[in-house]
Amino acid sequence: MAAFLRPGERQPGAFGVSFDADRGNAGTAVLHNPNARLALSDQRRRLPVFEHRREILYLVEHHAVTVIVGETGSGKTTQIPQYLLEAGWCASGRMVACTQPRRVAAMTVAARVAEETGGVLGREIGYAIRFEDVSTPDVTKIRFCTDGVLLREMLDDPLLTRYSVVMVDEAHERSMATDTLLGLLKKVLRRRPDLRLVISSATLEADKVAAFFDTATLRGKAAAAAGGLRRTPALLSVAGRCHDVQVHYLEQPAPDYVRAAVTAAADLHATGLPGDILMFLTGQDECEAAVRMLEEEARRGRRERASGLRLMPAALYAGLPAAAQLAALEPPPRGYRKVVAATNIAETSVTIPGVCYVIDCCYAKVKVYDPLSGMEALLAAPISRASAAQRAGRAGRTRPGHCLRLCTEAAFAELPAASVPEMQRAELAGTVLQLKALGVDNIMAFDWLAPPPAEAMVRALELLHALGALGDDARLTRPLGLRISELPLDPRLGAALLAAGRLGCAGDMATVAAMLCVQSVWFAGGGERRALEAAKEKFAVAEGDLVTYLNVWKAWEASGRSGRWAHRHLVNHRTMLRAADIRRQLLQHLWRLGIKPEEVEGSDDAPVRRALAAGLFHNAAQLAETTYESRDAAFAGTHVYRLLRSTGPGLPPRLRIGAASVLARTRPQWLVFYQVQLGAGGFHDMTDVAAIEPGWLPELAPHMFHYVRDAARG
Ligand code: CDP
Ligand code: MG
Repeated sequence: MAAFLRPGERQPGAFGVSFDADRGNAGTAVLHNPNARLALSDQRRRLPVFEHRREILYLVEHHAVTVIVGETGSGKTTQIPQYLLEAGWCASGRMVACTQPRRVAAMTVAARVAEETGGVLGREIGYAIRFEDVSTPDVTKIRFCTDGVLLREMLDDPLLTRYSVVMVDEAHERSMATDTLLGLLKKVLRRRPDLRLVISSATLEADKVAAFFDTATLRGKAAAAAGGLRRTPALLSVAGRCHDVQVHYLEQPAPDYVRAAVTAAADLHATGLPGDILMFLTGQDECEAAVRMLEEEARRGRRERASGLRLMPAALYAGLPAAAQLAALEPPPRGYRKVVAATNIAETSVTIPGVCYVIDCCYAKVKVYDPLSGMEALLAAPISRASAAQRAGRAGRTRPGHCLRLCTEAAFAELPAASVPEMQRAELAGTVLQLKALGVDNIMAFDWLAPPPAEAMVRALELLHALGALGDDARLTRPLGLRISELPLDPRLGAALLAAGRLGCAGDMATVAAMLCVQSVWFAGGGERRALEAAKEKFAVAEGDLVTYLNVWKAWEASGRSGRWAHRHLVNHRTMLRAADIRRQLLQHLWRLGIKPEEVEGSDDAPVRRALAAGLFHNAAQLAETTYESRDAAFAGTHVYRLLRSTGPGLPPRLRIGAASVLARTRPQWLVFYQVQLGAGGFHDMTDVAAIEPGWLPELAPHMFHYVRDAARG
């Protein structure tokens, strides 16, 4: 394949793309960060937000709500909380909260700010993500946390009295938790005239958010008590200091964008031009596959001779253990060129220094919810042009850069301008339950930033009712609903855990739930697919993935939590350690609720599967056709499952067991699953599956399955 670009030349490359070769700089050592030599305090002063420091402090003092828009990298996240601290907003024991939609962002930003303030992470500057709190009561002044963690805090402290300022960061992402938080904060502001809200965003959609808060945030007495506080939100725009990024497109569509991305990276590497490469792919599998291919490239080393640099590939995705995520953000050693294969986690929330080239597949994995069938699935969908612009911007942080979009220019023009907020395309049960627990009884009338579809709300209420979390009056049940809402788990898993308590296997269920929280149990990186299959095979049971997780856990425990054991069985040791920590916390919750975390003796896993069915009955399915007549030969012989519950007037989803499942070959007649992914041929691929007995369902969810018992008999 032709070179992507060569030093000193302007030449069309493999995709008909040409780059302006870097003038005079070609072939020199990778320049990571021109600011690296500057003292941290000088770096701080050079950031675009610094010029607005006084203005920001003035606005926050005089407005209940301040909306700040600025390019990624302008210093919003790291600087504004520090300005607030310096200006005395953390006096008398109060804190500044800064929320992030992603946990990796909360961790890295906290570490950076701790470094800038010369402190130790976890003392004055801390962070909190689900299952991990690195902050110190009465000492921590700035607390970075995920928006989900702050929502959970509101259960104990609805008015967030520990905080003087809440900064809702990355608001442009419009995550479900961000939207929920903004809706609730609007209520809190009415009760707390002393609270300040800062909303920061990377795009100009911010005026929508500002308009949302513009309806006289403070009323009556509260406004009077607040003195001269302005009701209208302040809007401030911070000019970025980004370098030019030249955008390139393919001339022909690429059939396999992972391979196309790897080839483009390798070609680019061969030129020897300095600068790291960031590629955007959609998920863990793709990132790991790209890293494997790049490692292969590096082993062959042909292109390295030309470049004088060595390739250093790294993956970056949400399911990756924290330490590995942080490692992917570190600058590479001298003489290496880093290539980070990332999901849209790298779009705005984290800083990867030294990136000059972005390769964008123009897709992202998103949740899509079909309110008719009540099914939520993950789907790799084209991103919006706004997202693509953010991604391209990652190349222009330290100097002019290049972005290659792996689609044609014509296809790009067809992309939607902006993304749909998660609230309007995802499943709502968790959010609705939280709102109910916070006393928002009429969720239809809740002041939504963007209201979710009414159908989706009705489905969420139905599910919560079926789980027993809501009563016939649609209010939170006590103690069950309250308990489910207090567990830091998806309501379905929470219900399963509480059911396990009744069935004498809460300890086992806590294990399964913890393993589901960490996602990547198997060590995919570097390992071969066949070896991985063989490793899984050793723990696989006909009862499904969820019971298999339990076996992996037990064997790892029996080995004394040995890293060597994990390595030998291609189990991700760091993931297991994290699962162990999550499990420990779930057990604490159980003790607090007076539930003994019992484990089933011997190999009888029926109680655990029963408990799983008690939480996941909504996703119970039956093998419907053993072969599927398809005109497309690729799908002939597919085993199709159908959901057991009624799915309304639309076409019922056609389910099949996903390739990653240990049940891909055995196929039980009846099962429950935890997740689905929209796959090829319009199938819903089920992952994390457990075999069940159909007779359990009418017992566990009588109003949903009164007819199943007869069907099972017949
Ligand atoms: O939030 P925003 O995207 O506006 O910027 P930021 O995250 O506050 O980052 C400001 C600057 O701090 C970046 O341009 C980086 O140079 C630096 N930074 C860093 O070096 N390491 C981090 N973990 C975070 C920020
Ligand atoms: Mg930021």
